[in-house]
Amino acid sequence: MQAPSPNGANGHDGIAELIRPAAVHRRVYTDPEIFALERERLFGQAWLYVGHESQVANKGDFFTTEMAGQPVVMVRHSDGAVHVLFNRCGHRGAKVVGERSGRTQAFVCSYHAWSFDTDGTLRHVPAHDGPRAGDFDMRDPCFSMRKLPRCESYRGFVFASLAAEGPDLRSYLGGVLARIDDMVDRAPDDELEVAGGCHKIVQNSNWKIFLENTHDGLHPMSTHKSSIDASRRQGRTLTGPPPFALDVIMANNQTLENMDKLSVHAFDWGHSYMAGFRNPRGEDDLFKEYVAALEAKKGAKRAEEILSINCHNAVFYPNASVQPSFLQMRVIFPIAVDRTRVEMWFFRLKGAPEALFERTITYANVVHSPSSLIRPDDVTSYDRIQAGLGADGGDWVSQHRDLDRDEVLNDGRRSSAVSDLSMRNQYRAWLRFMSEGQAA
Ligand SMILES: [Fe+2]
Repeated sequence: MQAPSPNGANGHDGIAELIRPAAVHRRVYTDPEIFALERERLFGQAWLYVGHESQVANKGDFFTTEMAGQPVVMVRHSDGAVHVLFNRCGHRGAKVVGERSGRTQAFVCSYHAWSFDTDGTLRHVPAHDGPRAGDFDMRDPCFSMRKLPRCESYRGFVFASLAAEGPDLRSYLGGVLARIDDMVDRAPDDELEVAGGCHKIVQNSNWKIFLENTHDGLHPMSTHKSSIDASRRQGRTLTGPPPFALDVIMANNQTLENMDKLSVHAFDWGHSYMAGFRNPRGEDDLFKEYVAALEAKKGAKRAEEILSINCHNAVFYPNASVQPSFLQMRVIFPIAVDRTRVEMWFFRLKGAPEALFERTITYANVVHSPSSLIRPDDVTSYDRIQAGLGADGGDWVSQHRDLDRDEVLNDGRRSSAVSDLSMRNQYRAWLRFMSEGQAA
């Protein structure tokens, strides 16, 4: 079946015909017109994760990133407030801040040296006085670096929206907020900080393919077979428990029965989380030292509650995914319909032994690094999906598994890691954004 053009006649844009209950049309991954509409209707309206407050810990600290392809800067102003500004000069439109991060008292545009306060207010324009200035009024906000229409933070996680209207951040994230709590609660001092740099991977595939894989419990045993086999061979040469890095790789070796026991919980607006298949708790001295630090600050009962949560990962639709117990954050930047950059950031638990952070970095290097044994497996699959979807061998991509078997809950739906629930849930949100907008 040929799907209609997204810009069809009579105000009918044809978007709804691209989504079926258990399948999506391949054009959602391959059509540049759809990609342009996603920037406007989905990324242009949703709450997007921008960064963590610890990245701008001190007054004047800034961090540059992108939202829906637009350059933005997150900055801590002199009054302590965190702002997200369009990284655009109010004069000729040049991108003002070129560095990825730093500290400054003012942003100065390199083109004509207009300077801006760290809340975006225009402060100084060289040689603007006198009879040749015309009726230019530098207090007019149109000459500032403007703030994003909305910016909110939850326990240090900063989100912003390009749209002025829509649900507030807490209502939007709903049940998946618990996964932020899960991360922050693990810190004895109740605070996280981003530490180190980030890993980056540019994938030759549509951004949605990455998110669809997050709770796909059917793929590890085949996609990651080579690294599982290598780790098992290595493990057989060892006596005693395997080192952390090897244990992480071996954990991908799960039976379908085990994966089916892992619950996946899906919420409105495309968010979801999946239970963990590897016990994140350790038995070694380092972990015991960490538990003692957590108990000292929160008490033994509360520490046990916190550590008993085992969530493998969560999706903050549409641009972020976290692994709470491993303190990893992945941020998704769609570049083109067939090109996506993913950045992976890592958190330190304030008040925990420093060596525990080294374990976080080991996890990052084993699982998320471009040169890890695991990540290239997944990226190869994403690239192959994109290549195959360019073929005329079929138009529909199946998401049929366990259709109509979801457990319907008050706050969402639940199924298992071998269900396609989370994918169907993402496309429910996709269709809602793309066809109606979030006001509907
Ligand atoms: Fe994978």
